[in-house]
Amino acid sequence: MPTAYEPFDWYADPLYYDLIFDVGTEEESGFLDAAVRRYGRSRAPTSRRTLVGYEPACGSGRLLAAMAARGYRVLGSDLSEGMLDYARRKLERAKLKAGLLQGDMSTVQPPELVDFAWCLVSTFKYLLTHEQAIKHLTTIGRALRPGGIYILGLHLSDYDRLLKTHERWTASSEGIDVVCNIQGWPPDPKTRLEHVRTRLRVNDHGRKRNLQTEWDFRTYDLGQLYELLDQAPWFEIAANYNFLYRIDEPIPLDGSYEDNLLILRKIAEP
Ligand SMILES: C[S@@+](CC[C@H](N)C(=O)[O-])C[C@H]1O[C@@H](n2cnc3c(N)ncnc32)[C@H](O)[C@@H]1O
Repeated sequence: MPTAYEPFDWYADPLYYDLIFDVGTEEESGFLDAAVRRYGRSRAPTSRRTLVGYEPACGSGRLLAAMAARGYRVLGSDLSEGMLDYARRKLERAKLKAGLLQGDMSTVQPPELVDFAWCLVSTFKYLLTHEQAIKHLTTIGRALRPGGIYILGLHLSDYDRLLKTHERWTASSEGIDVVCNIQGWPPDPKTRLEHVRTRLRVNDHGRKRNLQTEWDFRTYDLGQLYELLDQAPWFEIAANYNFLYRIDEPIPLDGSYEDNLLILRKIAEP
């Protein structure tokens, strides 16, 4: 008999999300730190405390905590109160500080100017319309000091792909085991949407649960990404990477990789 999965909002109740995504946090925050040194406004090795970083859609706060632990001042925003509560508790437990605010990443403006911002793991693709995407790039452009950078990680879509994709991640911590299967449906060039489903098999101190979360992402192929960036001329592309997060190995933004990690530098006011 097929396994039954209960519908689950993994952002309202983020413990399992955080466990799964935390696997990459050290590597990602190491990359952010190195990118700020290499491409940011201030490249002096001792000046982290004087730099402010901002994460729109900060989720469980895993990267905010990691960047605060590396010495930066950090701010984060998210739509989900569940995520923000979780982030608040996570930071408190680690005795770290971050300014948190609730809001939609297409409109929310951080309360002060920042030196750098980041948005990884395709989170930007939650903005389902062109207008929302441009508004978001405008808010980030306004939030950054001149010369500040926005590190934007997103997966490009291949409209020729007809098969589903599948990724499997596992994580364990303090009596909780999670197996996460992420399935992606082929991108639809007409609607510019791709459907994603996550299935979690959880053993939480002996309590077994099968949980399912579904959502749509907006799709971008290489041409659509360039078209979008053309409409945000306050940014230049300072560099591009892939999700291997190796600071000494930039790659061209030419579609040779699906996973792209853009370093956008603010060169004008939006
Ligand atoms: C994949 S998680 C990423 C969280 C975090 N950035 C990270 O790297 O772990 C996506 C997050 O985006 C948030 N989100 C989705 N749509 C949003 C929107 N329009 N405005 C603000 N946050 C949003 C969700 O609540 C969730 O916390």
